[in-house]
Amino acid sequence: MAKDSLIIFDTTLRDGEQSPGASMTREEKLRIARQLERMRVDVIEAGFPAASNGDFESVRAVAEVIKDSTIAALSRTSDKDIERALEAIRPAKSGRIHTFIATSPIHMEKKLRMTPDEVLISAKNAVRFARNGIDNVEFSCEDAGRSEIDFLCRIIEAVIKEGASVINIPDTVGYNLPEQFAERIRLLRERVPNSDKVIWSVHCHNDLGLAVANSLAAVMAGARQVECTINGLGERAGNAALEEIVMAVRTRQDVFSCDTRIDATHIVPASKMVSSITGFPVQPNKAIVGANAFAHESGIHQDGVLKHRETYEIMRAEDVGWNANKIVLGKHSGRSAFRARLKELGIEVGSEQVLNAAFTRFKELADKKHDIFDEDLHALISEDVVAPEHEHYRLVSSRFHSETGETPQAGITLLVGGEERRAESSGSGPVDAAFKAIESVAQSGADLLLYSVNAITTGTDAQGEVTVRLSKAGRIVNGQGADTDIVVASARAYLNALNRLVGGAERLNPQEGGV
Ligand code: KIV
Ligand code: ZN
Repeated sequence: MAKDSLIIFDTTLRDGEQSPGASMTREEKLRIARQLERMRVDVIEAGFPAASNGDFESVRAVAEVIKDSTIAALSRTSDKDIERALEAIRPAKSGRIHTFIATSPIHMEKKLRMTPDEVLISAKNAVRFARNGIDNVEFSCEDAGRSEIDFLCRIIEAVIKEGASVINIPDTVGYNLPEQFAERIRLLRERVPNSDKVIWSVHCHNDLGLAVANSLAAVMAGARQVECTINGLGERAGNAALEEIVMAVRTRQDVFSCDTRIDATHIVPASKMVSSITGFPVQPNKAIVGANAFAHESGIHQDGVLKHRETYEIMRAEDVGWNANKIVLGKHSGRSAFRARLKELGIEVGSEQVLNAAFTRFKELADKKHDIFDEDLHALISEDVVAPEHEHYRLVSSRFHSETGETPQAGITLLVGGEERRAESSGSGPVDAAFKAIESVAQSGADLLLYSVNAITTGTDAQGEVTVRLSKAGRIVNGQGADTDIVVASARAYLNALNRLVGGAERLNPQEGGV
């Protein structure tokens, strides 16, 4: 019997980005969107256009370039939000408005300060208004996991009558258990009279570590769209992980009556890209995309796998995109080979000036490191390679001294708005000294929330990729830096974060305000 399609709706660029510190630039969003398209994701939720001009521009840019996935834009139920979202996705070959309002007693009373009847009217108006601009409208009942079933039935029936074609049931606070959540989907499908006119979707958060289990249970109960993110990125404990949903359904075709159209060989590159852009490392034991997910340490396991792979492996590493590190470029590679490889990786550098800046960085790296891997190129681009005149803070040179029994020292020369500045500092280690030296010039007053170092590839000549998370006046930004010298990488990451603090604008969180 032919299987149903399970629609994969990726919200890495919207819910994923709501994770503190995970905000992305327009170029980064475009890189991720292209990777999602290559992976054959059905729907890409590109953002919340009413949040800020930057968000609007990012959604629009994604809508302009992506052709094979539907582009969704989130909006609250106000006409203003919906107009902004419609405008942002206008260039899309296939677009969708995703409008939502909270339906649980606690959210309606305490957050929205609205009665259920007012919420129902607002939802109906929103769907009707959106349908005047576009055919494809999804409606979400925020906090559906804690909403009263009778009210859910009423509001869902009403929005279907107004023309919603996808009904999304979010477990916004990750409160449900799999059987309970599946039962909720089953009940809604049975009780809502026009339920057969729409696709049922689920959107689960991971507060109890159950986002994937709840989503899969809902699929068993008839949901045919799952909202998820790469690496499970998202608010608080995150969303359901795309890679786990896709591979669970694919691996257990004996029990699922549906399948996705995802090309799973793009999963691991997507995971690495999202991790490198956001600075959120993937834990080694993470299913599918963790470094140890296919590593067999114990002798008994290794022996079994060598004799017959399926003794301990239920999936093949290469099917999800785990290839041996590929040496792609080296010292003698020229500009065109560099440009061609970036293109193959889906990295568009924009202007010729940016390509020049990236190529210069590549040559510097190739002088230090014999083999350049795809991961090195991703890291190089993650560090906001921009034309020098667009960078407020730029590292010109650095000097570090660290010796047993002596206080570490750093000397840094920076270009600040085009003017050369020098600073010296000591610290508890060379990284601490470097940050203090930079801060003595920048005087940003930002708080350091996170500092992490990861080796990008194997071997002692690997680049260290550093993430620095800074917070100032309620804004949180991540900065990335990569170099074979981890103190230099750290200084670059700090400067990258400072540049983002200087350049960024305020944005709204869709779920914090009212309608
Ligand atoms: O978690 C949630 O309820 C959401 C909605 C906006 C779909 O992200
Ligand atoms: Zn969510």
